[in-house]
Amino acid sequence: MDVNGNHDDSGNLPPWDVFIISAGGFGRTMLSTALGDPDCNRLWRPAGFLDGRTALAATAPLPVLGDPLTYQVAPYRAPPDPMFVCALGEPAMRRKYAAPLLAQGARFMNLCTGLRGAANIRMGQGCIFDREVQMGADTRLGDFVLVQSTAVIGYEVEIGSYASIHSFAFIGGGARIGEDVIVYPHATILPGITVGRGAVIGAGSVIMADVPPGVTMIGNPAKIFRFK
Ligand SMILES: CC(C)(COP(=O)(O)OP(=O)(O)OC[C@H]1O[C@@H](n2cnc3c(N)ncnc32)[C@H](O)[C@@H]1OP(=O)(O)O)[C@@H](O)C(=O)NCCC(=O)NCCS
Repeated sequence: MDVNGNHDDSGNLPPWDVFIISAGGFGRTMLSTALGDPDCNRLWRPAGFLDGRTALAATAPLPVLGDPLTYQVAPYRAPPDPMFVCALGEPAMRRKYAAPLLAQGARFMNLCTGLRGAANIRMGQGCIFDREVQMGADTRLGDFVLVQSTAVIGYEVEIGSYASIHSFAFIGGGARIGEDVIVYPHATILPGITVGRGAVIGAGSVIMADVPPGVTMIGNPAKIFRFK
């Protein structure tokens, strides 16, 4: 089902139930991405949303089964265990809403539907790749990394946990992207650059030198726009 391949796909097990955190626009978009995955309904099946906004239940395409902040994960049984997807765009939101479930031992699947050209990619759990993401060989990702559609990531790139890489971003080979970094659409990060933890790269910015932690960069060539 993903590059970790730690699921028995011999057909002997019923599909995993997968719960998607957030029935909002991005969560519903990730549902439609998931439904296009060849493994969907074979190895796993979207079973519901977790969202505290009760008003969304009336229109959500799957049942809303509870609030992710209070949801009680069923005690471990035999496989297939339920799995979770944290479909929230902001690093801080993914941290906040995944934390109570992680504390209960929940596992988050890597939704790799849109990942193309992957060779020897390693990642933790809870990563999401929307459609048409290109990634070079020997790339390393932490947990809960989000890569939006059409992003291009070079070889030997390292991306820290909870980072968000938005559409049409380009990250050159060997670049190192820290935890909780946001790379907004159409930004370019030249090869070998290090972007410090929690930095924000503005839309369309071109990053030509290492970026300190926590700053916001904009422009071409990008300059520091704001310190946290
Ligand atoms: C970098 C960013 C986060 C800063 O946001 P902000 O703090 O709200 O900044 P503002 O919009 O108030 O803009 C402040 C100044 O920076 C300029 N600016 C903002 N973003 C810029 C960018 N990406 N490139 C160049 N200049 C930019 C503005 O023109 C403005 O200049 P001014 O003071 O001369 O008028 C934001 O502009 C950005 O790039 N957001 C991307 C949002 C996006 O694409 N989201 C998609 C998610 S899927």
